[in-house]
Amino acid sequence: MPRPIQAFVHTDALRHNLARMRTAAPDARVWAVVKANAYGHGIERVFEGLRGADGFALLDLDEAQRIRSLGWRGPVLLLEGVFEMRDLELCSRLDLWHTVHCDEQVDMLSAHKTQVPHRIFLKMNSGMNRLGFTPTRFRSAWTRLNQLPQVDEISLVTHFSDADGPKGIAQQMATFVKTTEDLPGERTTCNSAGLLRHASDVAVAADWVRPGIALYGSAPDFPEHNIAQWDLQPTMSLRSRIIGIQEIEAGDTVGYGSLFTADAPMRIGIAACGYADGYPRHCSTGTPVLVDGVRTRTLGRVSMDMLVVDLSTCPQSGFGSEVTLWGQSECSVVLPIDEVAQAARTVGYELMCAVSGRVSFTSVA
Ligand SMILES: Cc1ncc(COP(=O)(O)O)c(C=O)c1O
Repeated sequence: MPRPIQAFVHTDALRHNLARMRTAAPDARVWAVVKANAYGHGIERVFEGLRGADGFALLDLDEAQRIRSLGWRGPVLLLEGVFEMRDLELCSRLDLWHTVHCDEQVDMLSAHKTQVPHRIFLKMNSGMNRLGFTPTRFRSAWTRLNQLPQVDEISLVTHFSDADGPKGIAQQMATFVKTTEDLPGERTTCNSAGLLRHASDVAVAADWVRPGIALYGSAPDFPEHNIAQWDLQPTMSLRSRIIGIQEIEAGDTVGYGSLFTADAPMRIGIAACGYADGYPRHCSTGTPVLVDGVRTRTLGRVSMDMLVVDLSTCPQSGFGSEVTLWGQSECSVVLPIDEVAQAARTVGYELMCAVSGRVSFTSVA
């Protein structure tokens, strides 16, 4: 028998979250961002739930091929564009739309031999200072691209650095709108936080929006908002079972480093989940966890294959009981991944992406 840990991907929740994103910008088309193997869920596993999107946006050409192999004939966008000349062959063959964010990519495109001109998303660095042409260089890049026979339609794209925080998007949006004011082409601006928090501004400049994390049931601005407030549902549940029970006395300690000391007699459960499964070792005593759908806490240090849970609030639970590390329990109690991420001083994105290869995944409704 394999260890009892398993991850579940919830197709209906993906569908729900996608519909929720549409309501935030009803006039925009939606890219479902499925980079990083659909934020750790597996592209093939999310495809059914997200196939109602208008397009899929990702980074790896290998992932683009997988989307096409699933039968998707609609738009596929490479968010970072091509990395080398031969990637353009694949763009031509698979009809991939691609971002152009630097001169080197324009050079590659100008040397590419293709019968069919490409759809390009020209990226502006409006303040994030990651990828893109600065506002002063953006128009000359557009003009150069526009003269290439390899280029069909040019769309305009930027990415916000602070859509999830107090700085917001106003400044970057103003730069983007002003610089592109008299340029033709569709616009795409917003990630999940931009879409959920700044939908009214988005209407000004978005033909396409690009939600990622919200589709996967994590609040982009937790703890300011949680998924219930944004009406999002968890799409990944990590569940395991209790494989051992200990009755401990006041003064007894738990786990490596004896980081937890009982102040009264208590019953504790040993769950088959550790950092080698992708559960963060940084989660200290008190991290929320569900046992048979009842909320309780972890105790002491997470080890490679196991962690310890407090069974004081779960007297009915014992050997074999279900442990939900995040997501939904079998009886549909929700433990948002954001709460566990907060305990690990990280974000839901990282936990989703870090579930390890030894955990088997199953798609469920
Ligand atoms: C260019 C771009 N657009 C959209 C997204 C989706 O962002 P989020 O997952 O925060 O919605 C990302 C992710 O980092 C991105 O890099």
